[in-house]
Amino acid sequence: MQTVDVLVLGAGAAGLMCAIEAGKRGRSVLVIDHAKRPAEKIRISGGGRCNFTNLHASPANYLSQNTRFSVSALKRYTQRDFIGLVDKYRIGWHEKTLGQLFCDDSAQQVIDMLLDLCDQHGVQVQLETSITALSKPDDRFTVGTSNETVRAQSLVVACGGPSIPKMGATGFGYEIATRFDLPVIEPRAALVPFVFDDVMRERSKHLAGVSVDAVVSYGKTKFREGLLFTHRGLSGPSILQISSYWEEGKDLRVNLLPDTDAFEALKAAKQAQPKQELKTALSNLLPKKLALHIAETNKFQGRLADTSDKVLRKAAQAINEWTVKPVGTEGYRTAEVALGGVSTKALSSKTMEANTVPGLYFIGEVVDVTGHLGGFNFQWAWSSGFAAGQFV
Ligand code: FDA
Repeated sequence: MQTVDVLVLGAGAAGLMCAIEAGKRGRSVLVIDHAKRPAEKIRISGGGRCNFTNLHASPANYLSQNTRFSVSALKRYTQRDFIGLVDKYRIGWHEKTLGQLFCDDSAQQVIDMLLDLCDQHGVQVQLETSITALSKPDDRFTVGTSNETVRAQSLVVACGGPSIPKMGATGFGYEIATRFDLPVIEPRAALVPFVFDDVMRERSKHLAGVSVDAVVSYGKTKFREGLLFTHRGLSGPSILQISSYWEEGKDLRVNLLPDTDAFEALKAAKQAQPKQELKTALSNLLPKKLALHIAETNKFQGRLADTSDKVLRKAAQAINEWTVKPVGTEGYRTAEVALGGVSTKALSSKTMEANTVPGLYFIGEVVDVTGHLGGFNFQWAWSSGFAAGQFV
């Protein structure tokens, strides 16, 4: 049997940050994780370069049933604090786009930094350890693991969400919440590509690899970033962003040519080059494969001179106001995060402690706070981990 002040479940971004902060305060801290390596999601993030924060991170970049919940933690540990830490470790970084900060070299540098800080502050990290039992028989938690039984005053649940299960992601954090009668907002895959139905997939599979700058909207929410056609449907940053808002069975609106009124452009082409084929005029506006696909599926044929304004308007609509109904998403297999999670109603936004279970804390992705694409999810992991680390 081992007794510690703080037991952290999950050696990911949030868990390690919390452990470091608790260690700094002189608490004895044990972090356990069932994976072979710590922080696997940091390692694979940002294409191996970890988009570790965003210069513009603010509560507006997060989805939650309580959009105010993230305010306190984000204010107390900001993107500038994390950048300061990265700078202290001389990890080179650059802004890629839209405030997104990436390591120049490798995401592993962020993991090494966190593990070094764990070392400095006496945090034990135990890997390949699974949890076999968990209870709170008295004022302490008793956690059975594959190695031993651990008694802890504070238990921090930092198990993340269930996306990318092949990397060891589980919904275990939600189970713990439920076991202690805490509400969980039904989780679902977010920041995830869409899939088309069989007919549309067959019809558009030759577009796989085509990408455009697009504005994708669902209701009043819109994102302007890249859109990518895949063998299964749609991906790219604009699509991943909107997936967090989209509801099953509903349409999306896509503007494939955001800075151009396609009707005006086609009318101008008709005047300037009346002998031009409509499909050629479309190819001047969009990648050729996509233009020909639009022409073919809508049966747009013939020369511009013979094309009525009504048809031009229809063609323009297919470009500026494409309405698309995905059949679903690729699910947790490829999702970057899970939307939903432990309800913020059950937690203190200052400490991340459960209101009804003293000593039980939830941080990071397991909580119902989900960031936009672009480094916001790691910032939430750092901020919520830091917040809990001051109190555990
Ligand atoms: P995280 O998932 O990091 O850690 C949870 C830990 O708990 C894991 O180590 C896991 O093994 C462990 N665990 C789970 N169940 C357990 C159990 N039953 N027993 C023991 N241990 C258990 N975000 C961002 O801001 N910038 C980016 O560039 C990216 N890129 C990105 C790429 C890909 C492919 C994915 C899947 C995700 C991203 N993200 C991202 C999202 C980001 O990775 C995510 O939001 C954070 O890792 C969440 O941090 P947590 O510490 O909460 O969970």
